[in-house]
Amino acid sequence: MAANASNPLVECVLRQVLVNDEEFLAFGNSLHPETGMADYRFATDQDTHDPETAFWQVRWGGNFVFVSNSRDKVQRTAEEYSNAGFLLERPISSVRQPLKFLPFLSRKVHYFLARKMQLIPPGDITDRFTYMVELTADKARDRYVVTKRVPTDEWVINRLKRRWPELPYDTVEKRAKKFTEKIFPLFLTREAAILKILQEHLPEQYRGRVPQCVNVEKDSRGFVRMMQMNWLRNGGRPLRQLEFAMQAADLLRAVHDAAEVIHLDLRLDNMVVTPDGVGFVDFGSAVRVGEDISSNPLLATLYGELMKTSHIQRMLDQMTISGHVTAEHICSSRGKVDKAVDVFYLAVQFNSPHDNPDLKELIEFKPGSDEAVAVQRLTKRILTPPDPMNPQIKSAKDVMRALEMVSEELYGAVPSLTT
Ligand SMILES: Nc1ncnc2c1ncn2[C@@H]1O[C@H](COP(=O)(O)OP(=O)(O)O)[C@@H](O)[C@H]1O
Ligand SMILES: [Mg+2]
Repeated sequence: MAANASNPLVECVLRQVLVNDEEFLAFGNSLHPETGMADYRFATDQDTHDPETAFWQVRWGGNFVFVSNSRDKVQRTAEEYSNAGFLLERPISSVRQPLKFLPFLSRKVHYFLARKMQLIPPGDITDRFTYMVELTADKARDRYVVTKRVPTDEWVINRLKRRWPELPYDTVEKRAKKFTEKIFPLFLTREAAILKILQEHLPEQYRGRVPQCVNVEKDSRGFVRMMQMNWLRNGGRPLRQLEFAMQAADLLRAVHDAAEVIHLDLRLDNMVVTPDGVGFVDFGSAVRVGEDISSNPLLATLYGELMKTSHIQRMLDQMTISGHVTAEHICSSRGKVDKAVDVFYLAVQFNSPHDNPDLKELIEFKPGSDEAVAVQRLTKRILTPPDPMNPQIKSAKDVMRALEMVSEELYGAVPSLTT
């Protein structure tokens, strides 16, 4: 619970409001908010309580709870939060705080709960995400969904200007239009289709670990401009690094072999750790095995570029040149749409699971520990096998088996894959 949960005002709200709250019971206690991001963060007017600071202390979809005896202060603070990427879900409320020596008298304690709906603070620019993604309340069904939409011209122009400051404005504008009118709608349309394929072809136990598309909005040409998905909420008990790696490899195996989908952007930012296990999101660059990309000229050009310029591909290039990747099947996947690209990236990523700040409290990772060293050794075997032409570990399934062996060596047992 929050560091200041022992404050008497906070305690009042905890005892009288949150104690029976289903969401609080599920997410309120599982984390260690002193060190990182929390699902619930409490503050009184004695604590730091500006929304800019709180933004990085509250997990996406988590709640900031402000408590004070002054209704005015609560009102003013609530307004600040509403303009800073948070949503006030219910009106400002109050509970009664019994006075210690005069229990028949009481003071009013005012509070609000504000949920963090945005991934980045309004007005910020980031390279971690491309689309405009936020949580949206689906009141009819009493839940939250993730809304992913094609960004506005202005948003894309700002990003392009930052990346290529020397480009003339009308070139930037033209390029931005190409993204917002053509490229992003095309990829979002493809993503909605891939999510459908996943739901149709993944075995049941994996379906909840990738998003399900629940709603789309299309433009007049039939391209998707807005897509809503169920929210794979981070949370639950922390996983050991090895469990995280095994669950990710197991899910990748199902995505590759059962759904025949290649993700192509398996960055840690596109992974979640939910109470149901590790999940993958962002199938925006995914392709189906055997799909003929070349038959659509725009798509062929775009994938050509993606395969040259994406972070994964640049990393693969560098590591191949520097000799850190010698496995032939991975080297020959350079610049191609291939399952080996996913396997390569996964094998690299599970060595630094905390690169996604949202996963810090959800994956136990200690660099230099026996487990971390064993996983690193495995990654080395995957990337630079003794016989690069005939590597023993090629597919996601092979990675999964190898991880099971690591687990057996370290702990004498394989952790259960279901949580
Ligand atoms: N269905 C979902 N459930 C949970 N988190 C999601 C979901 N979709 C997206 N996210 C979160 O939003 C971020 C951005 O969404 P993503 O689909 O990856 O867009 P982009 O293509 O801009 O990277 C993801 O990194 C992830 O943290
Ligand atoms: Mg993403």
